[in-house]
Amino acid sequence: MGKYDFDQIIDRRNTDSIKWDWGLKRKGRDDLLPMWVADMDFRLPDEVLGEIEGRVHHGIFGYTDPGDTYLDLVRGWMEKRHAAHIENDWITVTPGVVYSIAMSIRAFTKKGDAILVQQPVYYPFMRTIEINDRKVVNSQLVLRDGHYEIDFEDFEKKIEENDVRMFILCSPHNPVGRVWTRDELMRIADICGRHQVYVYADEIHSDFTYPGHEHVSFVNIAGAQGEDVRYILGTSASKTFNLAGLQVANIVIPDEDMRKVFRKESDAVGYSQPNVLGMVATMSCYRNGEKWLDELLEYLSGNLDYIRIFLRDRLPQVKLVEPEGTYLVWLDFSEVVEDHKELEKLIVDGAHLWLDPGIIFGRETALFERINIACPRHFIEKAMEQLLDAVLNLKSEGDQETLTV
Ligand SMILES: Cc1ncc(COP(=O)(O)O)c(C=O)c1O
Repeated sequence: MGKYDFDQIIDRRNTDSIKWDWGLKRKGRDDLLPMWVADMDFRLPDEVLGEIEGRVHHGIFGYTDPGDTYLDLVRGWMEKRHAAHIENDWITVTPGVVYSIAMSIRAFTKKGDAILVQQPVYYPFMRTIEINDRKVVNSQLVLRDGHYEIDFEDFEKKIEENDVRMFILCSPHNPVGRVWTRDELMRIADICGRHQVYVYADEIHSDFTYPGHEHVSFVNIAGAQGEDVRYILGTSASKTFNLAGLQVANIVIPDEDMRKVFRKESDAVGYSQPNVLGMVATMSCYRNGEKWLDELLEYLSGNLDYIRIFLRDRLPQVKLVEPEGTYLVWLDFSEVVEDHKELEKLIVDGAHLWLDPGIIFGRETALFERINIACPRHFIEKAMEQLLDAVLNLKSEGDQETLTV
């Protein structure tokens, strides 16, 4: 029995949570069990809450800038959890990782330039590229025997054919759950280095890996590469400790000139100091949160085991793509439905679930759904039962149709 109770159910309704309070606005109904957006339904440990409360009671929230203590803690965390050596100067604090992707796109590419992604991938990558008038180029990940892989020939060909200027790497990869190996990352660095492609390494999920898989930070790849690859790395305690509403991310840029260009771009949109409570929470989590995180990782493994066994024993038509990292699970419904509209109907009207449909991650994955498992086990059990009922009903509806024809 661990110290922390991840089974505890805390009502998040009426907190303006986009996961729990926006069903009516976004889905037209408020009776769905929400397991979509990547935040967690767990409470932070008291050690952290106490420090945030202490700062709240101080009562003054003027402009605040991250000092050495903050930067040491961010650097220390990357060193301790990922053996990634960085320097304090390399860090720039921003209100989010996606914000920093937008700033990088604007700083290091120009309108009309091509930017590479690997679909299926976190949909704001495509939106951020497009809204900044750049062109999305996709090198599709390949699903082989239940495991997603990079087609390196296609990856390089797409770069050459489109004169790609930047690649947005998702490491670990949302939604397919791959934790890229050192070899894969070295090949990426080699190709991008040879073609002078900037790499934006989004490592926001780096603290979530399952046993047997180890996150390799791009810091340890780019440095090891004979060919220099220019990169920006995005990380944040917001995913690891569920601080997304506090708006703080840490962007690592080793190259001094690139750092200046990035900071100028961020200045140009009028951003200056970070959210003070976000800073306090980040520091406290990195100082006091390790044990909580280690227990959380075990709990998530348990949630994953539950889903794996449930699907294997009771709903084998739905295939789990075994994740190596992240708390997002990618499910294949291609044996159950024939198109994405049918799938949406099954998930929403049949199972009363709010998941993220595969089609938003890329056209080729219209028969997939992404489910967020960072919630008390009770919700996982409920979701699986509701899904099973929906699939069984679909089958019996199908049988009746055949009978009445
Ligand atoms: C891969 C990835 N990058 C970035 C984000 C969001 O980061 P932020 O809220 O700091 O913009 C998410 C959130 O789900 C994500 O999955």
